Amino acid sequence: MEQQLKQLEQEALAKLAAASNLKELNDVRVAYLGKKGPITDLLKGMGKLSPEERPKMGALVNTVRENVTAQLEARAAVLEAQAIQEQLEKESIDVTLPGRKIRQGNRHPLTRVVEEIEDLFVSMGYQIAEGTEVEKDYYNFEALNLPKGHPARDMQDTFYITEETLLRTHTSPVQARTMEAKKGEPIRIISPGKVFRRDNDDATHSHQFMQIEGLVVGENIRMSDLKGTLDALAKKMFGAEREIRLRPSFFPFTEPSVEVDVSCHKCGGSGCNVCKQTGWIEILGAGMVHPNVLEMAGYDSKKVSGFAFGIGAERIAMLKYGVDDIRHFYTNDNRFLSQFHRTEE
Ligand code: DAH
Repeated sequence: MEQQLKQLEQEALAKLAAASNLKELNDVRVAYLGKKGPITDLLKGMGKLSPEERPKMGALVNTVRENVTAQLEARAAVLEAQAIQEQLEKESIDVTLPGRKIRQGNRHPLTRVVEEIEDLFVSMGYQIAEGTEVEKDYYNFEALNLPKGHPARDMQDTFYITEETLLRTHTSPVQARTMEAKKGEPIRIISPGKVFRRDNDDATHSHQFMQIEGLVVGENIRMSDLKGTLDALAKKMFGAEREIRLRPSFFPFTEPSVEVDVSCHKCGGSGCNVCKQTGWIEILGAGMVHPNVLEMAGYDSKKVSGFAFGIGAERIAMLKYGVDDIRHFYTNDNRFLSQFHRTEE
């Protein structure tokens, strides 16, 4: 039995030394020291021994067990340290490696046009007003001198939500809303935002687009003020050499109304494909606020006057950046959008 025990000990110690990881080590522990292991078996068999032999063998088994356990713990400590070391190496970061480049986004070309125009007008003392995209028929049409059944409504057919609510067809309702809220006070605002029309989408039309409305109301506001303001706008957006010209037009909410052209930024006025050989490019509609519009909003049209204008943001962006299809603005195609990467900022 003693012989057997010694052999077992040798075997166990050899296997402990050979275990290359904690799992293998645990297998050895279970195999030799476990409840079903040979050492336990030997202990169980002690009953068969004579009373003189029993304490001697008992002591021997215990020595072997202690020895194997001690070796096991020593080996476990080594393997544990090794495992931690391996993990550390696996997770280590080489801080000297070059970093991965983060692709930085940029502002959408339409946002850029809107912000540039906002900057200009804020520098001239304007406030930025916000309207609602879902609008009442009253503000979108009636308060702008477009009563129900007015033929000019047809040009702006839109998406109705109910008889009296619709997706606004232009940013002009902000004029009526602002005047109503300011209750006779002077006004100087611009208001950018989305507008909607029941148009079929093509290279120059979109059922959703952006406008920037402008409104100034006060004593002695004259057409020359409008002209000077739009001249500043044209120069800011298209260059200091630009000129503007006003052509008579019609809008129900302004009288007189004008269509505003800017001298072509590509050819300088001599004629090219951008200006269709005319030297001029139409950029917006404007006019003096119609007395009916002032009166409906509670302003005394004999005491105050005003001018208004409506700019199409896409049109400005298309001209400024040479974009040939309005749909590029809405398709989120990075090949298009990345071309506006921080060139001016
Ligand atoms: N609301 C007009 C449109 O969408 C544009 C416009 C024209 C706005 C003249 C104005 C204006 O404020 O005075 O066609």
